Amino acid sequence: MQHPNIVVLTGAGISAESGIRTFRAADGLWEEHRVEDVATPEAFSRNPQLVQRFYNQRRAHLLNGIRPNAGHRALAEFENHHPGSFTLITQNIDHLHEQAGSKNPLHMHGELLKVRCASTQKLFPCREDIEVERPCPCCQIPGQLRPHVVWFGEMPLYMDEIDAALEQCDLFISIGTSGNVYPAAGFFQMAKRAGAHTVELNLEPSSNGSHFDEAHYGPASEIVPEYFATLV
Ligand code: NAD
Ligand code: APR
Repeated sequence: MQHPNIVVLTGAGISAESGIRTFRAADGLWEEHRVEDVATPEAFSRNPQLVQRFYNQRRAHLLNGIRPNAGHRALAEFENHHPGSFTLITQNIDHLHEQAGSKNPLHMHGELLKVRCASTQKLFPCREDIEVERPCPCCQIPGQLRPHVVWFGEMPLYMDEIDAALEQCDLFISIGTSGNVYPAAGFFQMAKRAGAHTVELNLEPSSNGSHFDEAHYGPASEIVPEYFATLV
C-alpha cells in the first residue's frame, strides 16, 4: 500500500492536552452541563441566553492562549508530505487543526469561531461574545444569530464528502474520541466495509476499541507523532 487513501477522525481527546476539556471524562463538560440544556435546538428556543453563554465561555477560553499540541502538528505535517489522498474529519469545534497547518479539516460538528443566521444560514466569523439581542448582520433581526455548532438532533455537516472518503478508504485512524456519538462512532465500520485497515489512537480503549484492527494507547501528543512517523 504505497499511497493509501487515508481518513483520520479526531475527537475531543486530541485537544485535551492543549487545555480544552473533553465531554465525557470525570471532569468533562457534560458532567457540569446537561446536553438537554445547552446543546439541542430545543434548549436554544427555550433559553437562548443560557446556550449563548455556554458557547461564549467556550469561545473565550479557546481564544485565551489555547494552542495546537504535538498531535495536531503531526497530522498537519503528515498531510503536507503525504502524496496520496488524506481526509481529516473532526468532531471538534475548535480551530486547532487549522492553526497547526491542516489544510481542510471537515468540521462535522461545526466551528466555534463562526456564527450563522438561523433564517438565511449565512455564516459570519466570530471571536467575541454573542448577546442574544444582537441584530443579525444579514437580516437585522435580533435573536437570529446562533452558534455554528451542530446540536444533538441536528444533521452533522459534510456527510457527502465523508461518505465518499470512507468508501475509498484504505487506512482509517480514529484519534481521541470515545465512540459514543453517531454517526462518527460508526465511521470505522464503514471504512472496514470498504476494506480499510482500522487504527485507534486514544488515551484508553474506547467503546469500540476491541473492534479496531490495531490500537495504541497513551496521550495524543505522544502517540500521534509516534504512529505517523511509522507511516512515512
Ligand atoms: P446520538 O448520539 O445518538 O445522536 C444524535 C445526533 O445528533 C447524531 O446524528 C449526532 O451526530 C448529532 N449531533 C448533534 N449535535 C451534536 C453534538 N454537539 N455532538 C455530537 N453529535 C451531535 O444522540 P441521541 O440519540 O440524540 O441522544 C439521545 C439523548 O441522549 C440526547 O438528547 C441527550 O440528551 C443524551 N446524550 C447525552 C450525552 C452525554 O454525554 N451526556 C451524549 C449524547 C446524548
Ligand atoms: N490523548 C488521547 N486521548 C485522550 C486524551 C489525550 N490526552 N485525553 C482524553 N482522551 C480520550 C478519552 O479517553 C476519550 O475516549 O478522548 C476521548 C474523548 O471522548 P469524549 O469526551 O466523549 O469526546 P468526543 O468523542 O470528541 O465526543 C464526541 O460528543 O457531545 C459531543 O459535540 C461533542 O463532538 C463531540 C462528540
